[in-house]
Amino acid sequence: MTPDNLPAVAGGPPLRSSPLAYGRHVLTDRDVDAVVVALRSGTLTGGLDVASFEAALEARCDVPHAVAVSSGTAALDLAVASLGIGAGDEVVTTPVTFVSTASAIVRSGAVPVFADVGDDRCLDPGAAARAVTSRTRALITVDYSGLPADVEALRAALPRPLPVIADAAHSLGASLGGRPVGSLADITTLSFHPVKQITTGEGGACLTADPALADRIRRLRNHGMTSSAEERGGMQWRYDVTCLGSNHRLTAFQAALGRSQLDRLVEVLARRRQLADRYDSMLRDIPGVGLPPRPPGRQSAWHLYAIEVAAEAFGCDRDTVIDALRAEGIEATLHYPAVHLLSLYRSRGYGPGTAPRAEALCSRLVTLPLHPAMSESDQDDVVVALARIQRWAATAPALR
Ligand SMILES: Cc1ncc(COP(=O)(O)O)c(C=O)c1O
Repeated sequence: MTPDNLPAVAGGPPLRSSPLAYGRHVLTDRDVDAVVVALRSGTLTGGLDVASFEAALEARCDVPHAVAVSSGTAALDLAVASLGIGAGDEVVTTPVTFVSTASAIVRSGAVPVFADVGDDRCLDPGAAARAVTSRTRALITVDYSGLPADVEALRAALPRPLPVIADAAHSLGASLGGRPVGSLADITTLSFHPVKQITTGEGGACLTADPALADRIRRLRNHGMTSSAEERGGMQWRYDVTCLGSNHRLTAFQAALGRSQLDRLVEVLARRRQLADRYDSMLRDIPGVGLPPRPPGRQSAWHLYAIEVAAEAFGCDRDTVIDALRAEGIEATLHYPAVHLLSLYRSRGYGPGTAPRAEALCSRLVTLPLHPAMSESDQDDVVVALARIQRWAATAPALR
């Protein structure tokens, strides 16, 4: 089938008989064996498996402290709490993110202040600096799609020094100026949800070079207690509670899976990069398709491959493109609707015009399938489908 065929949305036969997901985990026999060994070790939560996973993350991300937690969302909550942020404070962040980033600020009692993004689709240093007020306590950048935000440029633009949290849910394994994600911000948060570079089912981590912050995050992960269950052996049974924490622990078998997955990170990143490069070369001639940014000095971890659809040049709007790709069996999707325009945030007083570049970007983005389990032939289907939809859209007056 060629781009000249009628797309499924216009009555043609769908390109695919089985749907192609936008993201998917890969599990090997070695991963499964690692989980089984952990399950049989006698320790189901905490213990050596968690410590070993944390040590492997520290080595990989070139950071002294990694604290494994139950999700990327928990990692954000603990990062914000560890800085003592709460009611009356403001935290500057980007609206081009999953709602989790902003909601962590709201849950702390602080107010998210949405600043605009730059050409790299990450928080723009100038816009972030202009959003800083006397109440600002921190910034949360987001490494959108796997491209690391330029934390140094952000720090340099700020009117006064402020802690920077990097939400690196998309960017484990990425680097900026040769420095790995995890070593750039004051606290970096990771997610190990199944569509990410590595998975523990659900899981996440906080990374930091600051031992006091790491200690606080460890306590907050475990109800604010001064010792963990494994530390309370023998005569060491007493403990105190020094801050309001909760249970954000990762199980031992999840950590064993994460440790095993981390061993394959280099391979996974290489495959993601190869597919992203191949998309670039195959999509660049389709009218109205904007390719992901590739700023010099930054190596993306390619969590997402998100194109921008320019409706005029393409022939139809972004929503129609996603619907038409889905009709072909290609599960294209949107990352993300601008957070400040979601109903929850509108009900809290945010609205259009807050971050015009982000709002325009979020109306054009389409995430195409990208994951290590997909083949070149899967990828060819995506490109043929998009080309077919564009040809049809360009000649279908009803769409314009
Ligand atoms: C940018 C971003 N931040 C935070 C999260 C939350 O991670 P989790 O799903 O592990 O809670 C996600 C999840 O996809 C995300 O994409």
